[in-house]
Amino acid sequence: QKSGYKHYMLKEIFEEPSCVAATLSGRIKSAKVHLPEIEELQDLLASSKTLKVVACGTSSYAALSFKYFLENLSDVCVDVEVSSEFRYKRPNFDENTVLVAVSQSGETADTLESVRLAKSKGAKVLAITNVVGSTLMRESDHTLLLNAGPEISVAATKSYVTQLVLLYLLGLKIVELRDQWNERCTKLIDSLLRLPEVLDATLSRAEHIKEVALKYKDFQHFMYIGRGLGYPTALEGALKLKEISYIHATAYPAGELKHGPIALLGPEFPVFAIAPFDALYAKMKNNMIECKARKTKLVVLTSDDCEDVREIADDVLSVNSFSEQLYPVLMAPVIQLFAYYIADALGHDPDKPKNLAKSVTVE
Ligand code: M6R
Repeated sequence: QKSGYKHYMLKEIFEEPSCVAATLSGRIKSAKVHLPEIEELQDLLASSKTLKVVACGTSSYAALSFKYFLENLSDVCVDVEVSSEFRYKRPNFDENTVLVAVSQSGETADTLESVRLAKSKGAKVLAITNVVGSTLMRESDHTLLLNAGPEISVAATKSYVTQLVLLYLLGLKIVELRDQWNERCTKLIDSLLRLPEVLDATLSRAEHIKEVALKYKDFQHFMYIGRGLGYPTALEGALKLKEISYIHATAYPAGELKHGPIALLGPEFPVFAIAPFDALYAKMKNNMIECKARKTKLVVLTSDDCEDVREIADDVLSVNSFSEQLYPVLMAPVIQLFAYYIADALGHDPDKPKNLAKSVTVE
């Protein structure tokens, strides 16, 4: 039931605030993260130098955000690989390794094979999934559930947002276990609890996002750029756009532009910059100016406290000013709605993109 929404994708995007509330429910107690499901992994999580993470598609971009988040707060090295590569590489890990497998459906073939490989070497597997009783859940040692409710649309939306939130909770738990907790972590807990309300505020801007999206529906190409946590968001923005609108979209860390991709830019190749007013904003601004010098159209997704972006952008999309590390969550509905409105305007069904299935159960 689409509950009055034109597509499941749109309904699922608008469910994000309540899904995040469900993901958080019972998992924060006395300003600390409470995850009894991983109690048995505590010693390993406290001592391992490296944490391995496997996933595919959108789930792999949530995993990449987790890497940026956790490496910034602790000394653990987070090694993220797409499952289709991990499963065929030399397994250079042992029984002291924790492998986190992230899969909304819990049925993605490459992720399941990665888990089987890891288990055959004695590694401990922690699943992050949305589906109770999925193969991933059954074959893993431990599971953290997203609690996002069924996701019908092929395009992952609410599962991505809840993966981010759950991985951040896991990250904070790891920071605590490693005795690296500080004031920033306490502030992050407070911000996580406010996420449902701030996500609502992002969604209240849907009409403006639609207006901007419709201006760009006839372009054949798009380049998404970002730095730091903005980079996985750029990757996800590009994936969402190509997957449902069939517009060619690519994503780069903004600092890579000069190493090749900038050659593509011009009036026919717009740029979508993820540029919240964070520690890397000045660097992003330079990159955006370089893009404008190639006469590209520039859409900037920023935060409300960024005052000078309007001087360079053709169009500005914005979210509430918030904890820097949580911008990937707040910005997710914006990149999703941007892609959705373009796909819908072009007459495509975003719930059932051509050539794609909800779960990739074969290689
Ligand atoms: O169920 P999973 O999270 O394992 O799925 C992984 C990808 O197939 C999935 O995220 C895919 O990229 C989505 N269709 C993107 O919207």
